[in-house]
Amino acid sequence: MEPTGYPELDQIAQRLDRVRTLDARGLEAEEIAILGRKAGALTALLKRVAELPIDERKRYGALVNRLKGQFEAAFAERREVVAAERRSQEDAGRDLTMPGRGRWVGAEHPVSRVVDEIVEIFRGIGFTVAVGPEVETDWYNFLALNFPADHPAMDMHDTLYLDAPAVEGEPSGRLLLRTHTSPVQIRTLLESTPPVRVVIPGMVYRNDAFDASHSPAFSQIEGLAVDEGISFVDLKATLIHFAHRFFSPSTRTRFRPSFFPFTEPSAEMDVECQICHGSGCPACKGTGWMEILGCGMVHPRVLENVNLDPERYTGWAFGMGPHRIAMLRYGLPDIRLLLEGDMRFLEQMGRTGGQPDGRGA
Ligand code: PHE
Repeated sequence: MEPTGYPELDQIAQRLDRVRTLDARGLEAEEIAILGRKAGALTALLKRVAELPIDERKRYGALVNRLKGQFEAAFAERREVVAAERRSQEDAGRDLTMPGRGRWVGAEHPVSRVVDEIVEIFRGIGFTVAVGPEVETDWYNFLALNFPADHPAMDMHDTLYLDAPAVEGEPSGRLLLRTHTSPVQIRTLLESTPPVRVVIPGMVYRNDAFDASHSPAFSQIEGLAVDEGISFVDLKATLIHFAHRFFSPSTRTRFRPSFFPFTEPSAEMDVECQICHGSGCPACKGTGWMEILGCGMVHPRVLENVNLDPERYTGWAFGMGPHRIAMLRYGLPDIRLLLEGDMRFLEQMGRTGGQPDGRGA
């Protein structure tokens, strides 16, 4: 750069070339040192213009201003270069072709959905929800429910007993994994006075094989209504209402006589096959019907066992299996799909709103 005749100006001008060697920090410091409003070297010179003789002012002022413009341009340019370098350094450690991190979006398990829907339907007609323990005594699970001790009826359920001391203070306190949700009928009736209307969801356990149609652990929902003047008509009407709400308003139902020690009379309810709608298919073994629950009028001896007068009170109960109902509803061929937690299956059920891909296709 040409000498200007002003050594202080020439001295500052010499620093111009160095700007493009500065790093981010140095750049910031140099900007303040040259152009800073309080102590910048050029700022100080500009302030001195006024002190110069009139004839020099114009030229000197122009020189200082030109130098200021040159510094401003140099700083701006360097700032861009430094920022670009920083960006490329950051990118060096990054694989921009890598796919984004997938976010896991949960989906409701088909059995949870079935349980929630069943509970909601019964809530809508005045039922509340009750629960009970999965480890029970044989009194609650069998004896209070009118299973005779050592009677073959108990073989109906292949029971998993616990290797633990019996509970004292109960007529019989052998510990087991409950084989049905019916013991919660007893617990509920011992705790409350009629009118009682409850649904009881929960897991139950049996010493069963784990194959396409059996599992040692599965869910049940129990229903119980006890009051004065309750009849079999209430039982039928309530369960038909349930089937129409849960399946479809035109779903046909039928009741067949059955046996349970804790209900009399007892029945099983079938609904029209949800796959073929009654014409007969492999899923319903050609019958057009699917069994969904066991039910009946609460046995007078069960009422006596919970200190209720069977002359005054009557009631009904039902028990159904949400795992089985989910299989019927979604046309699932294997109960294990609902218990193994295979993400491919669960994601598919979540994605399709409960319908397995290609069902019935
Ligand atoms: N507890 C019975 C079972 O597990 C079902 C049932 C419940 C039947 C209530 C009648 C009344 O098979």
